[in-house]
Amino acid sequence: MQHTILRRLRTYARKTAMGLGAAGAIAVLAGATPATSATGGAPCADCHDKAVAAFESSFHAKIWQGANGCPSCHGTTDQHLNDPSKKTIISFSKDGGRTAEELSKQCLECHQKTSAQLAMWDMGAHKKNDVACVSCHKIHQPRPAVNQPTVCFTCHRDVRSDANKMSHHPIIEGKVKCSDCHNPHGTLSKHMINAESVNQLCYKCHADKRGPWIWEHPPVEENCAICHTPHGSRHETLLVDKVVNLCEDCHDIEGAGTHESAVNTAANMFSAASSSKRVSARGCIECHHAIHGSSNFKRSFTR
Ligand code: HEC
Ligand code: HEC
Ligand code: HEC
Ligand code: HEC
Ligand code: HEC
Ligand code: HEC
Ligand code: HEC
Ligand code: HEC
Ligand code: HEC
Ligand code: HEC
Repeated sequence: MQHTILRRLRTYARKTAMGLGAAGAIAVLAGATPATSATGGAPCADCHDKAVAAFESSFHAKIWQGANGCPSCHGTTDQHLNDPSKKTIISFSKDGGRTAEELSKQCLECHQKTSAQLAMWDMGAHKKNDVACVSCHKIHQPRPAVNQPTVCFTCHRDVRSDANKMSHHPIIEGKVKCSDCHNPHGTLSKHMINAESVNQLCYKCHADKRGPWIWEHPPVEENCAICHTPHGSRHETLLVDKVVNLCEDCHDIEGAGTHESAVNTAANMFSAASSSKRVSARGCIECHHAIHGSSNFKRSFTR
């Protein structure tokens, strides 16, 4: 029933060459979906019935309530109606002959105003590397959601392989999204992270690491990424290296007399430590477990 009304309206609008506004108004009066006016009365559906139907059920059509139509994204249609081809309209297809920048411009006309998230688009790595809005966003579909991480992994294979390593942030499990940590549209910060610095980002979810501590561990204050890698690691707790190697990058404990005796006292607990001074397994953090900082009386992070 509704289908017939829609068809009649379309025909009516075409025959009388009515403007977009009037056709929309009639559609609303008739109780039909307001998206009748999405084509502005042009016979797009004659050749693109699936695309028109898909657009009519899309999130934009719902938001716009018939206020805008196909030309908002695909540009003027007169030439296309006389000579239909991909060249006579703005096509988002790979062989459509448009640059990423031209395609994004179609969206930014509106979205640079509507979304604060897009304010830094020009600064972002995606814009600079010719990634267009439509590389991530599909328009002719009901919901706006970007399927993360699947969409991102199509280009970021190294991140996918990290996210599958033994220790990883639960990205594939769906507990954290790429966009919890990154603004893919661009930021002023490095690597398009969603915060001024790596530490400010980490504190959002790991507030217990923020301190302030009486005894601070300088690398922790400087940058969590000195010891941790964000997506995934072969080493436990997302560490960039095995614990002992990691600590020994900065601490030369060989020949540190005090330390040697401290370690030797606990030799029965750490036999590897006393024989080789290279502590194995959890190594240094078996004793220095307050590694992120401590407000206890021990400066050495042993409690
Ligand atoms: C008489 C048939 C006809 C009509 C009417 C028509 N088109 Fe097309 N359209 C075509 C053809 C043919 C192509 C080229 C398809 C190809 O090369 O695969 C095309 C291509 C397109 C494309 C690019 C598709 C792609 O794959 O990227 C868009 C967008 C488009 N048309 C939009 C419209 C809109 C909007 C209207 C209404 C104003 C419209 N068309 C009316 C025949 C038509
Ligand atoms: C908000 C922007 C926007 C509007 C409005 C829009 N489109 Fe599209 N269209 C796109 C994008 C982007 C694509 C690429 C595929 C996708 O994202 O779904 C596309 C793809 C197409 C295609 C080729 C793919 C296919 O499904 O055949 C056609 C044809 C098309 N649109 C026609 C239309 C018509 C007709 C209208 C009006 C009823 C319309 N579009 C409204 C953005 C838009
Ligand atoms: C004529 C203006 C206009 C154009 C052109 C336009 N949009 Fe929109 N879009 C809107 C408005 C208004 C909303 C609803 C308000 C909002 O969420 O920003 C919206 C919503 C969205 C949303 C959903 C936001 C949410 O709520 O999750 C996405 C994603 C989006 N647009 C992407 C695009 C892309 C990609 C293009 C280009 C292919 C585009 N838009 C073209 C006006 C426009
Ligand atoms: C690299 C992938 C990617 C690119 C490129 C991209 N976006 Fe997004 N966009 C996302 C993701 C992820 C979200 C988060 C929302 C979600 O979960 O769907 C989002 C959200 C949005 C929203 C809703 C934000 C809000 O304020 O609520 C809009 C609008 C939007 N994008 C428009 C655009 C426009 C316009 C462009 C091109 C100038 C663009 N996007 C380019 C991935 C991308
Ligand atoms: C828990 C937060 C977090 C999540 C979730 C996250 N990232 Fe990252 N990502 C970061 C941080 C922090 C950096 C910068 C690391 C540095 O400074 O060394 C980064 C760096 C990057 C880089 C540049 C360096 C590199 O490793 O190639 C890319 C690309 C990237 N992330 C993509 C993604 C994608 C795609 C996803 C989702 C699949 C994702 N990230 C999820 C925090 C995160
Ligand atoms: C069409 C391919 C493509 C898609 C899809 C894509 N990216 Fe990218 N991304 C790139 C390219 C190309 C670069 C720039 C080169 C690089 O740093 O790898 C980049 C850069 C980045 C960077 C900055 C890296 C740095 O070191 O500054 C981050 C973060 C990022 N992408 C996250 C994402 C997220 C999150 C998604 C999914 C929402 C996504 N990307 C989807 C192609 C893509
Ligand atoms: C959006 C929230 C979020 C942000 C931001 C975030 N994380 Fe996480 N992190 C998580 C979640 C969720 C887990 C898994 C916790 C669990 O399973 O109990 C986790 C786990 C971890 C783990 C333990 C992994 C393991 O194998 O046991 C480390 C280490 C970690 N995060 C470090 C960081 C660092 C460093 C940053 C900043 C680059 C960061 N996180 C940013 C949510 C976040
Ligand atoms: C000097 C190296 C180093 C730096 C810098 C560092 N960490 Fe860690 N982190 C570790 C080690 C070692 C472990 C493993 C501790 C354990 O298993 O007892 C760990 C474990 C974690 C864990 C998981 C276990 C827990 O305690 O919750 C989280 C979350 C974490 N770090 C977050 C952070 C954040 C956030 C920062 C930056 C503020 C940071 N780390 C900086 C070495 C470091
Ligand atoms: C990037 C370099 C770096 C890494 C990696 C690092 N530290 Fe440190 N650490 C420092 C600096 C700098 C100080 C401060 C030295 C000072 O105050 O004399 C410090 C201080 C300490 C102290 C307190 C020293 C004292 O005088 O009481 C302990 C204990 C310690 N680190 C243990 C560790 C352990 C265990 C690891 C491995 C999980 C580790 N550190 C990794 C740089 C590092
Ligand atoms: C068996 C427990 C134990 C293990 C294992 C251990 N430490 Fe210690 N470490 C201590 C104690 C106790 C002190 C404090 C000594 C003091 O206060 O006089 C200390 C002090 C330190 C200090 C500050 C004093 C100094 O000698 O420079 C550093 C740095 C340090 N340890 C690094 C490490 C590193 C790196 C590892 C792993 C290779 C490690 N420790 C393994 C117990 C341990």
